[in-house]
Amino acid sequence: MTWAKRLAAAALVLTCGLVPVSLALGDETFATLRNHAIDQEPKPPPLTNETNDDLRKPRNYPEQPPTIPHKIRDYQVDLNVNKCLTCHGRTAVGQSQAPMVSVTHYTDRDGQVRAFMSPRRYFCNQCHVVQAQARPLVGNDFVDVEALVLGLGDKKGD
Ligand code: HEC
Ligand code: HEC
Repeated sequence: MTWAKRLAAAALVLTCGLVPVSLALGDETFATLRNHAIDQEPKPPPLTNETNDDLRKPRNYPEQPPTIPHKIRDYQVDLNVNKCLTCHGRTAVGQSQAPMVSVTHYTDRDGQVRAFMSPRRYFCNQCHVVQAQARPLVGNDFVDVEALVLGLGDKKGD
């Protein structure tokens, strides 16, 4: 079987598996999560304060973009200015003492390390996010891979 066919088959199995579940959940579950009927536009809850403790957080898996441990309100990131790079750029860290963006941020799609940030890593907030002390909407049984490998299966990741 070609990869394309295998993918299509896997997608079919997944879809077939999912349909009964979503039917079983019905509109009611979604209405509960949104706290409103599906055809109503609820007023969004007020924004909570973002975490600003300056403590770098452990990553749940090696490729995870680290979460941002400081406020970024009003930090401008557009075609003309990138506020983040004024601290995290290669030449800025001497003064800012911020961790430098890693070499992957300078690598283009051909794996070539460039002198300047790769455009695909320019808009930091595509991948890096601030955190808030918020109650999770749904449960989560994520297990850190290290705990999994060491057989501590029920130890939850951070
Ligand atoms: C004024 C300097 C400054 C600016 C501007 C700034 N940062 Fe930071 N950032 C830091 C410092 C210093 C740290 C190290 C932890 C701390 O002290 O908060 C940090 C930590 C981080 C980390 C955590 C790194 C890790 O390994 O855990 C991320 C991600 C990050 N910043 C992303 C951003 C993004 C995205 C922006 C722009 C929206 C930004 N920062 C703007 C100074 C800055
Ligand atoms: C396409 C996703 C993506 C974008 C866009 C992106 N990053 Fe990252 N960043 C990552 C990932 C994934 C990691 C962790 C693995 C790695 O280093 O590539 C990371 C790591 C980091 C680190 C930690 C570096 C270290 O060595 O500990 C900092 C700081 C950081 N990014 C800042 C930024 C800033 C500032 C920007 C914008 C100028 C940015 N990133 C844009 C995905 C992204």
